[in-house]
Amino acid sequence: MCGIIGYVGKQNATNMLLHGLKKLEYRGYDSSGIAIIDSYNNFQIIKSIGKISELEFKINNNTIQKNNIGIGHTRWATHGIPNEVNAHPHECGDVILVHNGIIENYIEIKQELEKENVEFYTQTDTEVACAYINFIYSKEKDKIKCIKEATKHFKGSYALSIIFKDDINTIYATRLNSPLVIGISKDENFVSSDVSAFLKFTNKYILLNHLEYAKVSKDNVTIYNDNLEIIQNTINIANWSESEYEKSGYDHFMLKEIYEQPKVLKNIFNRYENEFKDIDISKYSNIHIVACGSAMHAGLIGKYLIENYLNIPVNVEIASEYRYKNTLINNNTLVIILSQSGETADTLAALKIAKEKNATTLAIVNVVGSSISREADKTIYTYAGPEIAVATTKGYTSQVAILISLILNKINDQKVLNELNNIDNILTNSVLNKIEEFKDIADKIYNKNDIFFIGRGIDYATCMEGSLKLKEISYIHSEAYPAGELKHGTISLIEDFTPVIAIATDKNIYEKTISNIKETKARGAYVIFITTEEFDTTDKFYDIKLVLPKTSNISSSLIVIPALQLISYYTAKNKNCDIDKPKNLAKSVTVE
Ligand code: AGP
Repeated sequence: MCGIIGYVGKQNATNMLLHGLKKLEYRGYDSSGIAIIDSYNNFQIIKSIGKISELEFKINNNTIQKNNIGIGHTRWATHGIPNEVNAHPHECGDVILVHNGIIENYIEIKQELEKENVEFYTQTDTEVACAYINFIYSKEKDKIKCIKEATKHFKGSYALSIIFKDDINTIYATRLNSPLVIGISKDENFVSSDVSAFLKFTNKYILLNHLEYAKVSKDNVTIYNDNLEIIQNTINIANWSESEYEKSGYDHFMLKEIYEQPKVLKNIFNRYENEFKDIDISKYSNIHIVACGSAMHAGLIGKYLIENYLNIPVNVEIASEYRYKNTLINNNTLVIILSQSGETADTLAALKIAKEKNATTLAIVNVVGSSISREADKTIYTYAGPEIAVATTKGYTSQVAILISLILNKINDQKVLNELNNIDNILTNSVLNKIEEFKDIADKIYNKNDIFFIGRGIDYATCMEGSLKLKEISYIHSEAYPAGELKHGTISLIEDFTPVIAIATDKNIYEKTISNIKETKARGAYVIFITTEEFDTTDKFYDIKLVLPKTSNISSSLIVIPALQLISYYTAKNKNCDIDKPKNLAKSVTVE
């Protein structure tokens, strides 16, 4: 997901832009750039492929005069290979801009402009957007009207931060389906993809809504609605600190966020009495849980719990599929949308379709004020705090915890409630402290090419997330499989020493799962058996056993998944992978 930062104010814009870009690195990128205007009205655009440090090196080796306004960008390539030419900012005539999103009809617009003898130098949709705004500006000199006139031809998603060369004290911005916030301070203001880019300087921000236009100078911020009327958007106060964007002594953000889970989960269950107890999802005839990636895996946990305890049929849907299928939504369908970032394009699109079909929509989201949170009929925030590592950990378990909270009023089991209220101690004292065991497992698997995760029921759902964690940060291929399904084909892939991470925590299907594990062992698998204290396994069908605390089926996934997160973490660490920013990945995929 690209990152946008704009600065206008009393400080050196170059430094402010670099600070912001470093805070946006976590979103995933492959190139970056800044455009600044110096006190002699000279425009300088400096771009670099690779890390921000390479951009910084180029900037430090350029003669840059004092400057107080500029825009910057981290690019996650969609159209056009990652290189300096395709990196943002882009310039055309009087216009310089940066863009997050995809202009789906850019080819058509490009062809229109080529008929007007406009020349293009990059492979990007963003250059087309820049050229088109410049084209309209040649006829409409009111900049806000120009931006509205131009962008109404754009299909897809965009967050734009724009500087016009004849107005060097102002940054203009607009958005559709991609996030944009305006940071508000004294003698300086910011435009950014998210608050982290300027939180060090101000915690006041305005959320720009779809099809609103912002005019930002160092002393003034004016917001226009789509009728070009001036409006007053709420000034929000970020209630988290700059330190939450620091590693705070951990080697990686991912490790820090794994160890934040006890506190995050405790906080969620503490909200049960006041916030969740009266939410009744049992009145719906059917429930769709729609999400992507790990959020979809959290939905699988929700499916098992809701079907087992509320007896309501639950479909877990991959958002990119859901939006193009016959959703079978009826007037008593609840669509639960799961998203850490609240900006995932496929999930946002699926939400809009659910609303068009008159489903009731409930979003479970971490980022306050994100597009999904503003689109759903009701939103429950996980309040897990900023999640910087691309691989989600606390974002996933906090979604599971909210889903658990939505069924608790139907369980009325004090033992379960006590367990959930003690989840922080259980995790801290009996799971997250098994570091040497996790490292030992990582040492056994980090040089393997194919690893299998198997389990039944809720353990299979946990396997899905464990497998994704391993793949996305260690780049080792793995598959999660229902333990009982392996023998229907895939077991042919099990050879001598093929690692099989087998999870068995549910006494109702424990023996069946053990039988499936033995089937893999009989074919030479190297079995890493993850179970709980409840079971006294005597016969040696495994090579390594990891024993976790005994809990109810309600809580078991919250106990097992942190173990799988840490196994994946240490495996990736053994391979010296870029754990917080894995190759090819973005923190939130705001393109389809
Ligand atoms: C999680 O580790 C992945 N990075 C990815 O699958 C993620 O869960 C997915 O892209 C959904 O993101 P969201 O929760 O922000 O919508």
